[in-house]
Amino acid sequence: MPGFSTRAIKAAGRVPDAPQPPVNVPIYATSTFEVSDAAELGDLLEFGRAGHSYTRYSNPTHEALERALAELEGGEMALSTASGMAAIHAVVLSILESGDELLMPRALYGGTLGLAHAVLARSGIGHAVVDTTDADAVAAALTPRTKLLWLETITNPTTAMADVATLAELAHDRGVLVAVDNTFASPALANPLAWGADLVVHSTTKYIGGHSDLMGGAIVGPTDRVTAARKILINAGGNGSPWEAFLALRGLKTLALRMERHSSNALAVAAALEGAPGIARVQYPGLASHPQHELACRVLRDGMAGGMVAIELEGGRDHGERFLDRVRVAVHATSLGSVETLVSHPASSSHRQLTDADLAAGGMGPGTVRVSIGLEDAEDLVADLRAAARPD
Ligand SMILES: Cc1ncc(COP(=O)(O)O)c(C=O)c1O
Repeated sequence: MPGFSTRAIKAAGRVPDAPQPPVNVPIYATSTFEVSDAAELGDLLEFGRAGHSYTRYSNPTHEALERALAELEGGEMALSTASGMAAIHAVVLSILESGDELLMPRALYGGTLGLAHAVLARSGIGHAVVDTTDADAVAAALTPRTKLLWLETITNPTTAMADVATLAELAHDRGVLVAVDNTFASPALANPLAWGADLVVHSTTKYIGGHSDLMGGAIVGPTDRVTAARKILINAGGNGSPWEAFLALRGLKTLALRMERHSSNALAVAAALEGAPGIARVQYPGLASHPQHELACRVLRDGMAGGMVAIELEGGRDHGERFLDRVRVAVHATSLGSVETLVSHPASSSHRQLTDADLAAGGMGPGTVRVSIGLEDAEDLVADLRAAARPD
C-alpha cells in the first residue's frame, strides 16, 4: 500500500462525480490540470481544443465568468484578468507598439494615465490627451501615429460622457481602433461594443463585484482582438484568481438590481445637493444641468445614470479634506461601485501631484470630491453629505 503522504495527496485531490449539477459555479482552486499525454497539453496551451492546462492560461471558474461577461456585453469573447489595470495593460499592448500613440480623455481614471507615464513611455509608446466630449477636438488630435482612442463611458472622476458612436465612426475612418472602459456604467447600463467600440474593459473590482471584496478585471470584444490581448496577458502574468472570479460571478447576479438602486439613490442625492450650502457644482449625468444629460438619457439603459457623483465644494482643497473627515454614513476610502457609499478627494489622493491648473484642465477643482453612491437609504445619504459639505 502507498505511504500515508502519497495517499493523503491522492485522496485530497480526488474530484467527486456530481450527478446533480451545482447551482453555483464552483471555485476551481487548482493551478494545473492533469493531461493524458504531451500532445494534449500542447494543444491546450495553444487553445487548440476545449479544456484547461494551467490557470495562468485558463480555468473553469474564469471561463464561466468570461462566458457571462461576453453575453452581457454582447461580445464574442471575454477574458477575466487580475485587475482592471491588467485588462487595460493587455488591451493597450496588444494594439500599440514602439512609435505608436494612444489618445486619451483629458479627464480619466488616474491609473490609466499612470500606465501611459510609467509603463508605455518606457516602451516608446506615446500618449496625448484631448477633451473627448468635443468630437472636433478629437478629430484634430488624431495623428498618423495614433493607433488607439481610449474612452470611458462615464469618466472618472468628473462624470463627463463621450459620444462613443460618433467618436468610433470618426476614429475608424482614420484607421484608429477604439477601446472603452465601461467600469462606471457597467454592462447593466451600457454596451459600448454595440455603439461601435472595438474592445471594452472593466474593473470588475467595482460594480460587477459590487461589495468591495475582490480585485478583478475583464476584456470583451471580437475573438481576434481578445485573443491578441490574451497573448499579452498570459505572457505578462495578468490572469485573475478563480476565487475572485467566483465573487465576480456572484456579483453579476444582482448587478441589474444594484444599478437601479445606485442610479435612483445618486439622482436623489445629486438633486438634493445642487445649490446646497458649501457646494459650488454637482456633476451627475442624470441631472438636467449636466453638459451631456441629453446623451446620457439617450444611450444609458432606461436613462439610469449610475452611482457616481462629483461634487465641487466651494472652499478648495481644505474644504475637500474637511468633507472627508465629517462624513458619518459614507466611508472615506478609495474605490467605488460598492454597496456602501465611498467618498474620496482626488486633489489630496489620486490626483495629488497635480496643480490647480492641471486639475482644471481635467475638469476638476481643488475642492472636487468623488462620491460613489451606495445602496443605503437616500435620505440618510443626503443628510450626511449635506452636513459634510457645509462651508464652516
Ligand atoms: C474607471 C476605472 N478603470 C479602471 C480602474 C482600475 O481598476 P483596478 O483597480 O481593478 O485595477 C479603475 C479603478 O479605480 C477605474 O475607476
